[in-house]
Amino acid sequence: MNSVWVGWCEITIFDIHPVIEKTEKKNLESLLDYYRTDTVIPSSTDKHKLLKVLSGKACDPPPIWLMRQAGRYLPEYLEVRADAGSFLELCYNPDLAARVTLQPIERFGFDAAILFSDILVIPDALGQKVSFVQNEGPVLEPLEDGKAIKTLSRDGFLDHLAPVFETVKLVRSSLDPGVALIGFCGAPWTVATYMVGGRGSPDQAAARSFAYQDPEGFQHLIDLLVEVSVEYLLAQLDAGAQALQIFDSWAGNLPEGEFDRWCLQPAKRIVSGVRAIVTDVPIIGFPRGVGPLYPLYAREAGVNAVSCDTSLPLEFIRQKLQPHVCVQGNLDPLLLVSGGPALDRRIDEIIEVLGDGPMIFNLGHGIVPQTPLKHVDQLIERVRR
Ligand code: CP3
Repeated sequence: MNSVWVGWCEITIFDIHPVIEKTEKKNLESLLDYYRTDTVIPSSTDKHKLLKVLSGKACDPPPIWLMRQAGRYLPEYLEVRADAGSFLELCYNPDLAARVTLQPIERFGFDAAILFSDILVIPDALGQKVSFVQNEGPVLEPLEDGKAIKTLSRDGFLDHLAPVFETVKLVRSSLDPGVALIGFCGAPWTVATYMVGGRGSPDQAAARSFAYQDPEGFQHLIDLLVEVSVEYLLAQLDAGAQALQIFDSWAGNLPEGEFDRWCLQPAKRIVSGVRAIVTDVPIIGFPRGVGPLYPLYAREAGVNAVSCDTSLPLEFIRQKLQPHVCVQGNLDPLLLVSGGPALDRRIDEIIEVLGDGPMIFNLGHGIVPQTPLKHVDQLIERVRR
């Protein structure tokens, strides 16, 4: 068992998890070298607000970043996007993807950068063709039955995603050492809703029906997604990501029993699979919309932080979640569009209720394209005043 100190945090690398044995064995040494050299975090944790709160300490003012902070509300993103070809071509172009990852940091000085990619590169890397259609979103050839699931292939999975890891390396090498780099994946349930439905839907009916009608077949899909997500996240860590977020954007439509099977258990397995290699990596979970099931997720998924959606009451977050984990959230993205004194009031409220404990200021969901840039300035100034 190998153990290295990275600033305040000990990273232990021990037995190789069977799932990643084949692909990751060769990367272990470089993983260790990586943590020993490139990313030695200076002992002043003040410089690393995000990592500090993820270790359970409060920070005043709290660190801030925004979900989907690299995106269409930024004119500089639209410029790169116009030259990149398709959205997926942008995701697989390390130079351009690194550039757009850094854009919101350069403009606003957020405390963390999030890798520019998409949760749907995973089905793409498994051989299910994905495209992004203007004004419509992602379109995939839907997986209609258990037989279709068997056509997915892990051959060359990490090779297909190599440009994403290259992006992580590029970003880390040009990012201020005080700004944390967050890697991410979609949670198996949310990714599966797109794989089965073939596109986004308000109720995820296709995946829910599949899971009721053929739970075993659906379990195969979830198991596959758990395994490849572990590989994918470890490769992001190997390339230089310092924290991870698991996006379960569509967890909110699962009834209680289904929540356990398709949201909580897969999250637990991803967390323990990643921690089997990198024990202390901070992980944020985002089971969006699960309401009263949030505390169960916070206690049992094994994550360091939960990202809270807009509908969660602040007192609920403070009393039921913050004693167990760092909390992230939960400003309404549409209030950021509206701005004005109501925006200031809500920012103050969030910090007043949650600021005494470990928290990350963020939105309750992704920033929307119509967000005025000056409202983002207003938000950051207010949080940091
Ligand atoms: O946060 C960041 O800045 C990093 C990049 C990032 C994107 N997508 C870029 C993106 C991240 C972390 C995601 C996650 C993602 N992707 C989620 C989970 C978070 C959430 O918002 O719920 C989901 C469900 C997806 C799937 C997805 N990607 C959809 C449904 C769409 C179409 C809707 C939309 O917002 O356009 C995308 C496209 C997408 N992903 C864009 C960006 C910047 C816009 C595409 C474009 O520029 O043409």
